[in-house]
Amino acid sequence: MHRIFRFFTRNAFMRGVKPIMFRSKPDAAHDTMLKFGNAAGKVPFLLALLRFACKVESDALKVNAMGIEYKNPIGLGAGLDKNAVLAACLHSCGFGHATFGSITGRKSVGNPRPWFHRLLKYYALVVHVGLANEGVDINGDKIASEAEKFGEDMKVAASIARTNDKEASSSIDDAIADYVYSMRKIAGRTQFIELNISCPNTYNGEPFANPENLDLLLAELDKIDRKNVPMTVKMPSDKTWEEFRELLNVIARHDIQAVTIANLRKDRTGIEISDEIEGNFSGALTYAKSNDFIRRTYNEFGDRFVIIGLGGVMTAEHAYAKIRAGATLVELVSGLMFKGPQVVADIKFGLIKLLERDGFANIEEAVGADA
Ligand SMILES: Cc1cc2nc3c(=O)[nH]c(=O)nc-3n(C[C@H](O)[C@H](O)[C@H](O)COP(=O)(O)O)c2cc1C
Repeated sequence: MHRIFRFFTRNAFMRGVKPIMFRSKPDAAHDTMLKFGNAAGKVPFLLALLRFACKVESDALKVNAMGIEYKNPIGLGAGLDKNAVLAACLHSCGFGHATFGSITGRKSVGNPRPWFHRLLKYYALVVHVGLANEGVDINGDKIASEAEKFGEDMKVAASIARTNDKEASSSIDDAIADYVYSMRKIAGRTQFIELNISCPNTYNGEPFANPENLDLLLAELDKIDRKNVPMTVKMPSDKTWEEFRELLNVIARHDIQAVTIANLRKDRTGIEISDEIEGNFSGALTYAKSNDFIRRTYNEFGDRFVIIGLGGVMTAEHAYAKIRAGATLVELVSGLMFKGPQVVADIKFGLIKLLERDGFANIEEAVGADA
């Protein structure tokens, strides 16, 4: 019965909603999706329908990461829901966890629009949002309240980033103070925290994707009592492995339990795109590099870090490849936009079959099988 409903949901999205949304400008489609998702989240009947269509549960999917039990390894990556307006819908879609934000010390209006372009032939988006969000004073409370409401079932993470303005960019000390402010506001109020050091669309670039600055930032954050809430660092993708490993070596010395691999791609090599389009790539264009860095991190750092893998996950096979490369949790953002809300159930269903095929009793047995 659930499969029939899922079939209808998939078709309704692929044949009805997606063609309409993809005919409108991506910024407008994104805003509509957030408004509709927020409104639908207040209608118990729609949520129950979504929950029913997306219901896929199995002990094989249960996983422990960073000392937390997840009902499945699939989570929403940072960025889709910066102001935490979709929590009820995401919960009904069956996510094991959801990351809200990135949020920043002060409200940010972000970069001038347009924020998005679609690259249909690459199954990718060009993203140029620049961390537009309501700021931690408002969003911190919202995310904490969603963590209280849904955290038992769907773990809630807050992603914090440096405010995208001149004040937080004039010196490293100001930038660290901005992160510290957000961390103090959110510490202990969600199931885990993600530290975004790799947003490519902001003032002064990514100062903390540099080992010395990252060390300074993490040393300050270590002083804040997070009340045992674990933290992951959202890694940049446009690094050589040697540069990436240097960052991991710094992170390994601090109170950090996981790394999220990885953020948007900046490298435009081989991609047909006008120079006038500003922004960085998501989706399938991030898939291979993310898998490569997951595998290398797993091989070199073993169980020092839980690995959260994201980048180009649209199918169960994609998620499984990240797990077999070494990821314990898998996230997606673009997959939800390209495939619709039932993609979470499709991936979970497919993962159960893939685990069965390969003789694994659960996800944890498959982690790193190809590393
Ligand atoms: C619309 C959009 C907004 C994003 N905003 C953020 C953000 O605020 N913080 C962040 O850490 N990553 C952000 N990202 C990057 C994603 O979390 C992810 O790293 C990247 O898109 C690759 O995953 P995907 O292929 O599943 O989209 C954003 C991505 C997209 C598509």
